[in-house]
Amino acid sequence: MRPRHQSSVDNDFILKILDKDAPRALIGKLHADARRLTDEVFGRDVYARGLIEITNVCRNNCLYCGIRSGNTSVSRYTLSTEQIVSSCRTAHSAGLRSFVLQGGENPALTADRIESIVREISSEFPDSAITLSLGEWDDNDIQRFREAGATRYLLRHETRSETHYLRLHPESMSLHNRIRCLRTLKRTGYQTGTGMMIGTPFQTLGNIIEDIDFLRELQPEMIGIGPFIPADNTPFSTFPAGSVELTLRLISVLRLIFPKANIPATTALATLDPTRGRIAGLNAGANVVMPNISPPDARNAYRLYDNKAAFGLESIDGIDGLARSLAESGFNLSFDRGDYRG
Ligand code: 5AD
Repeated sequence: MRPRHQSSVDNDFILKILDKDAPRALIGKLHADARRLTDEVFGRDVYARGLIEITNVCRNNCLYCGIRSGNTSVSRYTLSTEQIVSSCRTAHSAGLRSFVLQGGENPALTADRIESIVREISSEFPDSAITLSLGEWDDNDIQRFREAGATRYLLRHETRSETHYLRLHPESMSLHNRIRCLRTLKRTGYQTGTGMMIGTPFQTLGNIIEDIDFLRELQPEMIGIGPFIPADNTPFSTFPAGSVELTLRLISVLRLIFPKANIPATTALATLDPTRGRIAGLNAGANVVMPNISPPDARNAYRLYDNKAAFGLESIDGIDGLARSLAESGFNLSFDRGDYRG
């Protein structure tokens, strides 16, 4: 049977897939179709991106996030430029050619500083791709980072529903500003990544449909989705985690709609199901993994949610083990930059 064509992945089909009583055979076919399509586009290669968590200082107070400004139990850090470049150096020696600088919205990390960090990395590692994941900025700053050498940006929209957005974020934040940033990123020529958590408090299936409609409109080059995981000392600490099963179904749906997008098997998936999460994500149609290359102290302090996986196979220390684990499932850990090929 041919895989379902992109245009037939309509909202009725998606709702059938998301139904918790969906027949197992339907879900099996969904994953198989999505993986077959992934194989057609990427073969068995899985791109590795080294993730550096450059600061856990954040001015925002997102209700789900472990490093929200209101969480006084977090010990806050900001890596120096030298520490960041040195993490890249270690990862580069191990073969990685794609670095993601992620962090909270730290007022001390000014656009000037970020620009100079990007310049240093791009001059020392001209063969490597620099991705930023540093929250919302003015159009002008987004342009400057691009000129300094960043070519990709990750900024999840989190939810496309205004009312849901307000239930996840304090009023000082706005969905409007986030979408403005995403449109600027696309216009400025970044490979742009966005996405949403699955199973956040108050999320409905209708919200997920709206999220997917938004993705169809934005046409991102990268799509990150992962289950919500409660974080200690946050207003949502007692809410249940999102479903791994639902996340996997959505990875497959997104693969069918966006055959060429870079889609990670996220850390949140590996956290909720440490033995199978990552491979299940790849088998559902993901094609990227993001091992953590932060200094170990930073990994401990950058706790977006409880028990976040940041060591072993989820990190640079376990890169050989990760390659072996992928090989056991027939995947090849690739050190290619893994640019989007349209
Ligand atoms: N559970 C799962 N994902 C989370 N993120 C932040 N907090 C949590 C949580 N409690 C995700 C957000 C953000 C990304 C960096 O991490 O989607 O965009």
